[in-house]
Formats: sequence, C-alpha cells, structure tokens
Amino acid sequence: MQVIAKKTYDEASAAAADLLAAAILMKRDAKLGLATGATPVGCYKELVKKYESGMLDFSRVTTANLDEYRGLDGSHEQSYRYFMDSHLFNLVNIDKSRTYVPDGTIEDPDKACSDYDKLLDEKIGAFDIQLLGIGSDGHIGFNEPCDYFNLKTQCITLEESTVKDNARLFFGGDLDAVPRQAYTMGIGFIMRSKKIIIMATGESKRDIVEKAFCGPVTPQVPASILQLHPDVVLVGDAAAIPDAVVEKYK
Ligand code: PGA
Repeated sequence: MQVIAKKTYDEASAAAADLLAAAILMKRDAKLGLATGATPVGCYKELVKKYESGMLDFSRVTTANLDEYRGLDGSHEQSYRYFMDSHLFNLVNIDKSRTYVPDGTIEDPDKACSDYDKLLDEKIGAFDIQLLGIGSDGHIGFNEPCDYFNLKTQCITLEESTVKDNARLFFGGDLDAVPRQAYTMGIGFIMRSKKIIIMATGESKRDIVEKAFCGPVTPQVPASILQLHPDVVLVGDAAAIPDAVVEKYK
C-alpha cells in the first residue's frame, strides 16, 4: 500500500483526482468504480475542472457505483444516482447509459443484488481503478462490520453509526429520513479492481484508518482487507492519517 498524506482536504482531493485522471488518460475507455459520500466531493470537483480545461475526455469511460439506498429512485435528492449525476455525470461528457448504480427501486433484494452482480460481470469485469471512502466503522461501500467478508452484492441493514453519519451529512440531521437498508457491491468485486484509491479525510476517520491499515485483517473492519490488495493508495489529509500509518507504509 502507498500512502499519500496531504495537509488539507483540498490537496487530498486533488491528489485523488490526479490518480483517476491518469487512469483515464492512459486508457480512454477506462472502467471506473466510483463512491459517494462527503469525502469524494472535492475529488469530483477537481475532475470536472480537468474536463473543463480540456485535459479529460469521459466520452468512452464506463463507471459503476458501490451502492444505493433501498427504496430510493434516482430522482430522490438523497439517492446516490442523484449524487453522481449532480457532482459528476451532468458536468462532464460521459455517456450516462454507461454509468451504473444499483437500482434502489427493485423491492426484491435477491433480484436487485443478482441483477447488479450480473451487470458488473457483463459491463465491467474488473475496474481499472476503484475509488473508495471509509466509514467511521470501517465499512467500504456499505459492507458493514460482520463475521465474514461479503463477496457479492448484498442488501445490508445499516449500522446505527452509519445512519447517524449519513443523517448528519446528508439528511439535514433527520435520523428518520435515512433509509435503513442499502444495496452494496460486495468486497469480492472491489478487490478485483486493478487499482484502488481509498480516501480518508477529517479527524473523525483517524482512529478507523489506524485500525484498518495497522491492525489485523478482519471482517470486523471491512476496509482492512485492502492490506491484501497489491495496488492500493490511501489518500488523505493530515487530520485523518495517523503517523503510525505513514510509518508502516513508507
Ligand atoms: P463519507 O462516507 O465520505 O460521507 O464520510 C464514507 C463512506 O461511508 O464510505
């Protein structure tokens, strides 16, 4: 694992955007795994700037996102489809028919999950690069702490800490407004990606970053499995990256 620890959130966002930009420049039809949440917003802003400056062309890029709330359709302002459209897809020249997000409107979880796994196999195979955030409980995608590493897309019941984090950041603090379930890509497909960038910013991520990358590999800290991937870059700001992590991977 490589660690890029920048001073500020903006610098960390620019560094993550550079890695994604490099993947697109090296392969015009790159397949990108994308994440939602507060963390990647700055990275997407930087990518839009690079597109506007003429540096990046998204016309042949394909993307698939990690997760979606069960029960929300893409026109809901808190859906992850809406997030991606408004932070990136509507602002660059991507062909939206090649941007995939799990379908939150499918009521039957088995169907929703097997449909997404089928789509990932057929349209993606393996990402060239996958962008991840990390939950304060160590989740990646919405793969919450559990007794085993979940490999396939699944319907997950969110941990109370995740509901609180998401209410604070996105639902105006209204806990009751946060859906309790989500469909999430499994860790097996995330690990298939050729390269993975995991972003962590802000003091609230510091403890979990240390646990995930200096502690044991365990499904109780799902992000810890990234220690076993051959090409992972942890990109963060000074508040989120403890010295112990910098030391271990230098
Ligand atoms: P956040 O979420 O970026 O909103 O902190 C991270 C995550 O849950 O992956």
